[in-house]
Amino acid sequence: MKTRAAVLWDRNQPWSVEEIDLDPPKAGEVLVKLIHTGMCHSDDHAVTGDMPTILPMVGGHEGAGIVEEVGEGVTALKPGDHVVPMFIPACGQCRWCAQGRSNLCDVGGTLMMGIGLDGTTRLHARGQDVFTMCFLSTFSQYAVMNEHSLVKIPDDIPLDAAALVGCGVTTGYGSAVNTAKVQPGETVVVVGIGGVGAAAVQGARIAGAEQILAVDPVEFKRDQAKTFGATHTAASVADAVELLKEITPGGMMADAAIYTVGIARGDEIAGLMSLVSKGGRVVVTAVSPMEDTQVTMSLFELTIWQKELRGTLFGAANGRKEIPTLLRLYQSGQLMLDEMITNRYTLDTINEGYKDMHAGVNIRGVIDLDHG
Ligand SMILES: NC(=O)c1ccc[n+]([C@@H]2O[C@H](COP(=O)([O-])OP(=O)(O)OC[C@H]3O[C@@H](n4cnc5c(N)ncnc54)[C@H](O)[C@@H]3O)[C@@H](O)[C@H]2O)c1
Ligand SMILES: [Zn+2]
Ligand SMILES: [Zn+2]
Repeated sequence: MKTRAAVLWDRNQPWSVEEIDLDPPKAGEVLVKLIHTGMCHSDDHAVTGDMPTILPMVGGHEGAGIVEEVGEGVTALKPGDHVVPMFIPACGQCRWCAQGRSNLCDVGGTLMMGIGLDGTTRLHARGQDVFTMCFLSTFSQYAVMNEHSLVKIPDDIPLDAAALVGCGVTTGYGSAVNTAKVQPGETVVVVGIGGVGAAAVQGARIAGAEQILAVDPVEFKRDQAKTFGATHTAASVADAVELLKEITPGGMMADAAIYTVGIARGDEIAGLMSLVSKGGRVVVTAVSPMEDTQVTMSLFELTIWQKELRGTLFGAANGRKEIPTLLRLYQSGQLMLDEMITNRYTLDTINEGYKDMHAGVNIRGVIDLDHG
């Protein structure tokens, strides 16, 4: 079949919106009609090459849609089901899934390369194969995905809100709740208020943090952070250090800091470590360019003050459990998803959407996939 999709033909090029060919689902795969997709910063890491994906590719890994057709052997889903794709699948069989750590699922190792489990892709254009973002490619009206990537959700959840939990919300919330393990009464700093950071602020609030300090150079982001639960804001990590000396008992600093800027930098880690107290936790959620290997920080302080530096992937979430939980928190009014959608775009205005992301205009930009 044909589908309209946003293709990245080369690094640092605009997304090219064109009609391309999509194969039917193979065994264990599902054809999904996408309705909405969020614009996560990670697709931009594919554009710049910070994330070395195979090109050409169709981007997008944060979406929601409706099952159109299932391939041979798929029993958990049927046409008409509403689904959220996860950018890391949960096979339920591997060591990591068995441990309750499906964000590290072995099947994710293959799918995150942008190819199916048989090593081939379902997309083709201009006479060649086109690869995918995490074997999802939600910047498309239709996509074929692996059944392990899909979580069925209730029909009454708006699909634009649901799209956000496919990546940014689960990642940010989980960074606070699962990785920073925020406890009631704690002081938490979130550095970088995009979709991921806004969800980290909410995770810290829902976990019972007493003080939440949101750091972002953009005034609009700092204002928005207050809507999501921030009690304090600062324009830089240096300003946050000074503020924490005033607002924490005895100037002991924060219990946890979560790093959710657009591009992680090794030379910013020392500053993050200085935000937390003795025994404090620093969580790195933001993605750095893959070739960067240098990090600046005091190993002496890491040991003597017993600080911790933790990485997190997909918020260390078990998506099949966490996504339905997050959607219930949304329905009960505790998790604000509608408020995270700042502006809406179409596939044709996707490049404008990413320009807006870089300009700090959006908490999250969402693309409405036009089927009209
Ligand atoms: N670990 C994971 O599983 C995972 C999942 C999704 C996204 N990510 C990564 O998380 C990061 C955030 O994604 P996003 O979509 O929210 O990005 P975004 O671009 O929407 O938001 C980033 C925010 O950081 C702010 N910022 C930039 N530099 C800053 C600095 N030095 N100090 C404070 N704030 C700063 C920007 O103003 C912006 O508001 C990206 O690196 C993305 O690739 C990781
Ligand atoms: Zn993402
Ligand atoms: Zn698995």
